[in-house]
This record gives sequence, C-alpha cells and structure tokens, in this order.
Amino acid sequence: MKVLVTGGAGYIGSHTVLCLLEAGHEVVVVDNLANSDAESLRRVEELTGRSVDFLQVDLLDARALDDVFAGGGFDAVIHFAGLKAVGESVTKPLSYYRNNVVGTLNLVESMEKAEVRRLVFSSSATVYGASENVPLTEETPLDATNPYGRTKEQIEDILSDVGHADARWSIALLRYFNPVGAHESGRIGEDPQGVPNNLLPFVAQVAVGRREKVTIFGSDYPTADGTGVRDYIHVIDLAGGHLSALRFLANKTGTFRWNLGTGRGSSVLEVIHAFSAAAGRLVPFEIGPRRPGDSAVSYADPSAALADLGWSAQRDLASMCADHWGWQSANPGGYSADARAKD
Ligand code: NAD
Ligand code: UFG
Repeated sequence: MKVLVTGGAGYIGSHTVLCLLEAGHEVVVVDNLANSDAESLRRVEELTGRSVDFLQVDLLDARALDDVFAGGGFDAVIHFAGLKAVGESVTKPLSYYRNNVVGTLNLVESMEKAEVRRLVFSSSATVYGASENVPLTEETPLDATNPYGRTKEQIEDILSDVGHADARWSIALLRYFNPVGAHESGRIGEDPQGVPNNLLPFVAQVAVGRREKVTIFGSDYPTADGTGVRDYIHVIDLAGGHLSALRFLANKTGTFRWNLGTGRGSSVLEVIHAFSAAAGRLVPFEIGPRRPGDSAVSYADPSAALADLGWSAQRDLASMCADHWGWQSANPGGYSADARAKD
C-alpha cells in the first residue's frame, strides 16, 4: 500500500514508519515538526535502507494538505499528528482543540476530496478517564477528564459520524495504553522536549544522569505496593498493531475500535526496579504526593484486537526497559544534541 503518515516524525509515528517500510509499504510523511526532529526519519531511512518522502506540512494548512493528496495516490492514512501533553492541554485548551480537532477535520476533508477513505487514528486510553473498572474494554463508557482526552473523544465521535454517513469509509480507532521503549537498534526513540511528563522517559533521564531522582506520585493507592498501575506497551508492538489494522481495513468498511495494550499492569515501583535492572544501575527515587487526576489502576482488555486483527503484544517489561535504555544511553540528549554534535 501507499500510506500517508501524519505525525510520522514523532515517537510512535517514526517506529510505525519503520515497520511499514520493512513490510514493503510505500510511505509519505507529513509533519510540522512541532514536537519532533526530522533526524528521526533520516535514521529510519538508515535502518531500513529505504527512503521516506517527508513533507513539512501543518494539518491546519488545509490548502497545503489538499496539495499533498493531489496526485498522491494514497491507499490509506495513519493519523498520529496531534498535541499530547495533558497538563499543557489544561492551560492551553484552545490550541489543543484547534490543533487536534480542526487538524483532523482538515485531514478528513482532504481525504474525502481525494477519495481516500481508509484511516487509522491514534486514540488513547485517556478516553476512559478515571474509570478503574479494569480491565478496560472497548465498551467501557468514555469519560475523558482533561482537554487533551476530550479532543480524542471528540475526534472519535467525528470519525464515527463520518463512517456512519458514508459506508465507503474504513476507520480504525486505536486506543493506546502506555507506549514505551524504542527500536532495538537504539537509533530511534522518544525524545521529549523539556521535563518529561511520563514515567518511562523520566526514569530513563534519571538513569542517564540528566535528572537527580524520580518522584513517585503517591504510594497510598489501593494496589499491591501502593503505587499506580499502568499497562505499558512496547512501541514496536504498538506499531505492529497499526499494520494489523491496515490489513483488516484493506477489505472491510465501517468504524472499528480496538484497545492496544498488553492486558498486564505494572506498578511504578515495578517499572523503576525493571529499569534499574536493564540499565545496570540503581535509579534513585522518592515518594511524593499523588498527581491530581491520576487513577490507581489502568490496564486493557486487548482480546478484541486479538480476535479481530490477530494482534497481541509480545514484548515484556524487561524488554521495554532494555530497549528504552538502549536508546537513552546512546542518545543522552535526544536527536538534536546528536545532530548538533555532527555539525
Ligand atoms: P509525538 O509528539 O512524538 O508525535 C506527534 C507528531 O505530530 C509530532 O511529530 C508533531 O510534530 C506532529 N504534529 C503535531 N501537530 C501537528 C500538526 N498540526 N500538523 C502536522 N504535524 C503535527 O507523539 P507520539 O507519542 O508519537 O503520539 C502520536 C499520537 O498518539 C498522538 O496523536 C498522541 O496523542 C497519541 N497517543 C500517544 C500516547 C503516548 O503516550 N505517547 C498515548 C496515547 C495516544
Ligand atoms: N508517575 C510517577 N512519577 C512520574 C511520572 C509518572 O510516579 O514522574 C506515575 C503516574 O502517577 C502513573 C504512572 O507513573 O501512576 C504512569 O504515568 P504516565 O504519566 O507515564 O502515564 P499516564 O497513564 O498517567 O498517562 C499517559 C498519557 C495519557 C494517556 C495515557 C494512556 O499521559 O495521555 O498514558 O495512554 F492517555
């Protein structure tokens, strides 16, 4: 297939582009580089020996997007582009609604004009809000608790309505749990700007000496060790879920929703211990107060993806930590530091 990947220079996008190329697909990436570095795609080319057609385009620029589709001949679109920081979405809601919701409207309108009606969308377990009715199934009621999560919920509604209105559309809404890890080469990985919001990148930056210690957000949850439990999924397993969804959509129309998680929960303390083992060094930590809005436990029921797509996550927490460490230790400053060093 010829696949347009929005947000393909980002963390999950770059790993998925790599897997698409390895599976023989042709890939065009559009990304405005708001939260990424084109170096990721250069490295994907280096790893695969294949070229990636990269266009620096903002989804808010509807005309430029139409131009991308004109003569593009795409069979499908995988839509990763979006802003994703929960805290920032609370202080800048308008920019989140505009970027994520309006960006998606522009994309779908361009697709409609070009008669490309096969779409895989990056949704998130955040749509389940604070529900602790685990494992979370696709039928768990949606109840996002912050503007970022509400953009995902709204986009799911918009895409469902589009699929409902025109039976020619094939749409997959993929609800990711907690993506972590990196490609086993250590050449591509997550490169957060500023202080990481998420646990794994923070732990990795402590391990590599960029930060002093991890603060555990609460140890009084009703879990086995008192710390929060999440369903961490290796980014390569997650990327594979997109290829499975594309295969499924190749000959089916309609709107489909799948959880992409492992179905297993790990606590914050388990993650810190697993990372220490993978890195061969102790990761210092302290116990702090709970983070507002956090739930005690979240993990997926991934059985629908197995039944419909034949997909399941294969990699365990040790492998997630080993690969995340492989990337972090080889690229302590992320992509741009490495690029500067080469100048
Ligand atoms: P990321 O920030 O690394 O990648 C997103 C990419 O989209 C970036 O390269 C950014 O430059 C680009 N982008 C943003 N707005 C754009 C616009 N208007 N036009 C063009 N490009 C734009 O994030 P990621 O972790 O790779 O996440 C990918 C998708 O998965 C996002 O939609 C995110 O909300 C979703 N998601 C991520 C997680 C997670 O924990 N990483 C969990 C659930 C869902
Ligand atoms: N945590 C800490 N210390 C930190 C960071 C996190 O103790 O410095 C804890 C959190 O309290 C939570 C766990 O580690 O118990 C995981 O936290 P993350 O921030 O890594 O992940 P969340 O599950 O809170 O949220 C993330 C994204 C959401 C997304 C969700 C599911 O931020 O947008 O995963 O995909 F919806």
